[in-house]
Amino acid sequence: MDQSTRFWDRTAERYSKRPVADETAYQKKLQVTREYFQPDMEVLEFGCGTGSTAIAHAPYVKHILAIDISSRMIEIAQRKADAKNVENVTFKRSTIDELSVSDQSLDVVLGLSILHLLENKEEVIAKVHKMLKPGGIFVTSTACIGDMMKFFNVILPIGRFFGLMPLVKVFTRKELEDSLTDAGFEIDYQWQPGKGKGKAVFIVAKKAA
Ligand SMILES: C[S@@+](CC[C@H](N)C(=O)[O-])C[C@H]1O[C@@H](n2cnc3c(N)ncnc32)[C@H](O)[C@@H]1O
Repeated sequence: MDQSTRFWDRTAERYSKRPVADETAYQKKLQVTREYFQPDMEVLEFGCGTGSTAIAHAPYVKHILAIDISSRMIEIAQRKADAKNVENVTFKRSTIDELSVSDQSLDVVLGLSILHLLENKEEVIAKVHKMLKPGGIFVTSTACIGDMMKFFNVILPIGRFFGLMPLVKVFTRKELEDSLTDAGFEIDYQWQPGKGKGKAVFIVAKKAA
């Protein structure tokens, strides 16, 4: 088990009890995402954490496969889904790299608070593009730390050394937009609820039809 997986396993219980940092922004992101949903849609969420977003979206689509690298996160997510009798979400422990799904089989992919935690963001974005049907949608919400805290690259190795932080990559909003368009996506919607710490960039990117 690598250091990031250990970090997320250790964090899972606390993460599940933590209130959403900005409830108004979270609700807006749910609402905007739902404007793209249809009842017959197949959805993937990677880095689903303790499952709150997948469970909230479940009534609006046919099925959601929700994966996370942390088995503790998945256990908590499954418990929450069982308690609410949610039957159309499959929670599975898997990294996005390990996951195998057919090309052009998904309508929507959600990657929320995850792209900055990946070693290989470009490869993952390319994989998402491949998995989506023509006209499919990739919804991301990403901390673009390069626009927020220029000094982060200095504190990151220290936090990692003491096991206090997961892997975190520093890039700007412009670099994220470029990664998406370079992979063949068009940006259909973009919003940031203000600048600064915790203000993730929300993007809905579309694969050409
Ligand atoms: C900041 S949390 C976000 C959770 C959830 N998406 C949310 O918005 O609350 C990041 C999640 O991504 C998971 N994760 C990290 N790297 C991953 C990977 N390579 N594949 C799948 N999940 C990963 C972590 O275990 C953690 O649950």
